[in-house]
This record gives sequence, C-alpha cells and structure tokens, in this order.
Amino acid sequence: MKIQRAHLLLCHGTACTSSASEAVKKALEEELARSQLAEQVKVIPTGCFGFCAMGPIMVVYPEGIMYCKVKPGDAREIVETHLIKGRVIERLLYKDPVDKARVSELDDIDFFRHQRREVLHNCGHINPEDIREYIARDGYLALGQVLTGYKPQEVIEMVKASGLRGRGGGGFPTGRKWEFAAQAEGEEKFVVCNADEGDPGAFMDRSILEGDPHAVLEGMAIAGYAIGASKGFVYIRAEYPIAVERLNIAIKQARELGLLGKNLFASGFDFDIELRLGAGAFVCGEETALLNSISGKRGEPRPRPPFPAVKGLFFKPTLINNVETLANIPRIILKGPEWFAGIGTEKSKGTKVFAIAGKVVNTGLIEVPMGTTLRTIIFEIGGGIPKGRKFKAAQIGGPSGGCVPEAHLDVPIDYDSLLEIGAMMGSGGLIVMDESDCMVDIARFFLEFTQDESCGKCTPCRVGTKRMLEILQRITMGDGREGDLDLLKSLAEDIKDTSLCGLGQTAPNPVLSTLRFFEDEYLAHILEKRCPAGVCARLVRYEIIPEKCTACTVCARVCPVDAVTGTPKKPPYFIHQDICIKCGACQAKCPFSAIAKE
Ligand SMILES: Cc1cc2nc3c(=O)[nH]c(=O)nc-3n(C[C@H](O)[C@H](O)[C@H](O)COP(=O)(O)O)c2cc1C
Ligand code: SF4
Ligand code: SF4
Ligand code: FES
Repeated sequence: MKIQRAHLLLCHGTACTSSASEAVKKALEEELARSQLAEQVKVIPTGCFGFCAMGPIMVVYPEGIMYCKVKPGDAREIVETHLIKGRVIERLLYKDPVDKARVSELDDIDFFRHQRREVLHNCGHINPEDIREYIARDGYLALGQVLTGYKPQEVIEMVKASGLRGRGGGGFPTGRKWEFAAQAEGEEKFVVCNADEGDPGAFMDRSILEGDPHAVLEGMAIAGYAIGASKGFVYIRAEYPIAVERLNIAIKQARELGLLGKNLFASGFDFDIELRLGAGAFVCGEETALLNSISGKRGEPRPRPPFPAVKGLFFKPTLINNVETLANIPRIILKGPEWFAGIGTEKSKGTKVFAIAGKVVNTGLIEVPMGTTLRTIIFEIGGGIPKGRKFKAAQIGGPSGGCVPEAHLDVPIDYDSLLEIGAMMGSGGLIVMDESDCMVDIARFFLEFTQDESCGKCTPCRVGTKRMLEILQRITMGDGREGDLDLLKSLAEDIKDTSLCGLGQTAPNPVLSTLRFFEDEYLAHILEKRCPAGVCARLVRYEIIPEKCTACTVCARVCPVDAVTGTPKKPPYFIHQDICIKCGACQAKCPFSAIAKE
C-alpha cells in the first residue's frame, strides 16, 4: 500500500465545482508531477465543507490547514511554499471579518466551532466517488451488523428508541413509520428516498448526497431489511447532476462489492436501488405526488389515507424517508440509539442541517444539535448581520414556514417550539433578513412561489393562493385597501383548512407569520402608502437633497428616462416624480450622497 505524506482535500461540491475546483485539482496535480511529488501527495476531491461562499475550499492534512478561494494559479505556490518549504500561505487563509486575523484551522473558525457535524461527518473528509474511503470510516458496518445480528423488529426498536424524526419537514417519528410499513400486508414492499428538495435556496440533501452518498444508500438498505423490502428508489431532481452522478457511481461500486444486490453479507437478504429523476416541480416532493411521478403518472398529490406505508408505490406498502433522515440511520446503529437520543431536546433528538442564506456574514451549510437557538446560528455561526445593519427576521422552513422576529431569537430550534411561534422546521432552509427587507414583499415572494408551484388539483390552493397573491401585489403597489388584512387572514385560514396536500395547507404560513409579527408594515403600505424598508418600488420616492447637491450632472446623465433636470453648476437638480421609474441609478451614482430614498 502506498503511504502519502500529505493529502489535499479539495471541495468538489456544487458551489466549489462552479468556482472551478476541478481546474484547481488539475493544476495541483500538474505542479505535484512537476515537483516529483505526485507519489507522495494526493489530491482528494470531497463533498461540501459547508463554507461555500469561501470556496473552493481546500484542507491540507496532516496539518489541517484550510485555504479559501483557491484558484488554479495558486497551485504552484501551494506546492512550492506549503508542501516543499513547509510554510503556510497567509493570503489563502480565512480572514476573520471582525478582527481581520488570519485563521489557519477549520475548528478555530467561528462558522465551524459552534457546529456539531454528525450527519455531515464524512462530507469534506472522504472522496464520495471511492467506496473504500467510506468503508474505511466504518461505512457499511452498520448494515453488516444489522443483517448478521438483529431481527427486523429489533432494528425498528432501535430507530424508535433513538427518537429520530423525519427531516423532510413533517417531523414524523421515523421508527413508527418503519413499524407501519413493516406491519403492512404485502408480498412486495419498497423503500423510497425523497431527494426532491424543492425549497428555494435549500441544498442540505444535495450536499449530503454529493459528499456522502453511501450513507444514504446504507440507510435505505437497513430500512429495507427492517420493513421487508428488497427494492429501493431514490427520487432526485435532474437539476442535481453532480449528486446524480455520485449516486450512480456509489450504487455501481456497492453492487460490485456485494453491498447492494443479492444475499447481502450472506444473510439471504436482497436489496437493490435505482434512481428516478424528477423534473423539478416543488409539489413532487410531497410524498404521494412523488410516488405518482415515479410510477409515470402526473405528479399530483392524492388524498391520504391510505398512507404510502399501506398503499404506496404501485399500490404496494412503501416507506418514504428524506435523505437526511436516512443518512442518520447507520450512525444510530453504530453508536447506539442512546447516543443519538442524548443529543437535542426532549422531543427533537439529534442534529439538524440548515442552509443559511440572506443577510448574514457567513452563508453556507451548517449542522447543529436540535435546540440550538437562532441567535447562536445567526450571530455566532453566521457571524451576524453585515454592514452594521439590524436583524429583522429569519424565515425558517422555506415556503411552508414562517418568519421569526428578534423577540424570538432565543427560542430553541426544535419541531414543537417553532410551531408555537407560527414557523416550522421544514427541511432546513434558513433565510436571514435585515432592516432593508420589506416583510410584505417577502410574504409576496413566497406566496408567488407556492402559487406558481400549486399543481392546481384542488380549488382552495389553485384559486385561493391566487387571490391572496393579488391582494399582496396590490398592497406592495400602493393600492392596498382597508379590509385587505382581514380578507388575507380569512382566505389563509380557509386555504389551510381545505387544501388537499401540504403545499396548500402551508402556503399561507409566510403571510400569516408576517401579519402576526409585522402588521405595522402592512398598515404603513395600506394606510400611509409607504414602504418602511424602501423596497416596494411604487411606494418609494427619490428626492434630491438641495444642500448636498453640487449640480455635478451625474444623476441627469445616468437617468434612463430623463427624469432629472437642472442647470450644470447651478444646484439643486430636481427629480420629476411623474417621470421617475424608481430605478435608483441616480442615487447609486451620485458622488455627494445628495439623493435620498424616502
Ligand atoms: C409541497 C411539499 C413538498 C415537499 N418536499 C419534500 C422534499 O423535497 N423532500 C422531503 O424529504 N420531503 C418533502 N416533503 C415531505 C414529504 O411529503 C414527506 O413527508 C417526507 O419525504 C417524509 O420523509 P421523512 O419522514 O423522513 O421526513 C414535502 C411535502 C410537501 C407538502
Ligand atoms: S393543495 Fe395545491 S398542490 Fe396540493 S393538491 Fe391541492 S392544488 Fe395541488
Ligand atoms: S430613480 Fe432612476 S428614473 Fe428616477 S430619477 Fe433616479 S435615475 Fe431617474
Ligand atoms: S461546495 Fe465547497 S464548501 Fe460548499
């Protein structure tokens, strides 16, 4: 066996790949060959480290030095300075945005220090395209133990004892779901992994699949044994090409080693997995729509009961679990249900992966124990709000979720606490908003998304969300009427109560939660025709501040509609409100900050 003296772990997640990490790898390998180090130093492509905004990320082992924003042009210096001379390259280290100090090790960076990476423990550590690296970190050991040492019901009891709840959004106890599927009558059963992940901005499941695909396959095989299924499907959107490719490679390698297929671990248990690609409709993440889509039908939800555990894919009993739920399973088996149940809160066990985005210094993918507060996530891991602005709200749970205001920043994040304040865990999308965000416009954005994604099968969702959207649009356009808020609330309640599936039942949530915590912003739009955050274009005015204007003419020259008039060197200039289209170009370009947005 060859022993390398150094490993360069180079992120090949989607974000880093789009920042040219493959070209960095090639350049590094060329430089290593040129320096006759190719035998001693190995470049290993990995999954996402979570710090995507700083990518491409590379960690040099054994020292554990992390380099950020690595470019192909840095390859020679990395080889000559770091690997040959043994000197750390300061300029490629992470720079703390507050004290500007350079930080060399991953665990010393606030973004990583407050995390607990359990589901993501292999992401950034192994080459997801090499099954041997997964096996070297105890991969497929849990499957072997289960098949050779436990009865199916014992496996179910372990999952129940762990307290694991579904990470796909609903938080249903996983062990109980497995038990229903195990008890369902049927010769043939299926396990389905839901990798649709349609929430805007969410990429938790994609990252797990890209960084550690075997953990999900192993979780599926264990689930298959527990419920008595010998066939599994991963339903994944075609827009995730890297995850699809790595899954295909992983399935092929697992088959070659006899870890998928017939008679696994000589136990007599058969299990194999196929992929099914989705076309990217949000509703196809809903379990019954997803099952329809796999069986070649239109991706529309159907009423439940019967639940998939009883009548699912091809009308056979089917267990459907989310990617993150399944990726937790091998660790629960190996480390024991007590270990898992020891993390988190009383009713929400384990950790949760979140994709954190928006107005926060550190964006990316994080994993924290259940019960961590939003304040820790946003201000310690996320590094707070950029540009010295004030935090306003965090949208949690994607388009089905709600906005959490500052007053609730210390609420522990778990399934039940979030529901109490009108939000929900969802699958882990977290968007941070500051004072420059308009909450009415945010509600409009999410409703526009769900309205667009409604499959149209039932009237409350198809028509009701459209009427709600029209009301929100007219409020943001300055045409809101008295009575609009009552109308929004009553429509929202009706849609929640009468829609067929979770899409319609939760579509009004962003509107209801912004109304609950930010009603004053709605009233400012309706009664004062004013957008306090200055976002809704029709409610904004650009005005020249006479005392600051020097009549430099810049604003008049950049205005695309000639709305600014004046005489050069004879201030002030003047904006004609009836012509102005509120594009903001004049304000952005004025060298004297003489244009105010009101
Ligand atoms: C509109 C809609 C979209 C959904 N999208 C997803 C999704 O992308 N991924 C997912 O795992 N669950 C999604 N769900 C939840 C699934 O219906 C289902 O509850 C979940 O896959 C069950 O897995 P779990 O028990 O492991 O959470 C969605 C639900 C709704 C109503
Ligand atoms: S609630 Fe909406 S998405 Fe769900 S079935 Fe009805 S129309 Fe389709
Ligand atoms: S906001 Fe745009 S349209 Fe209005 S005056 Fe300035 S540049 Fe012209
Ligand atoms: S994709 Fe590289 S750090 Fe996320």
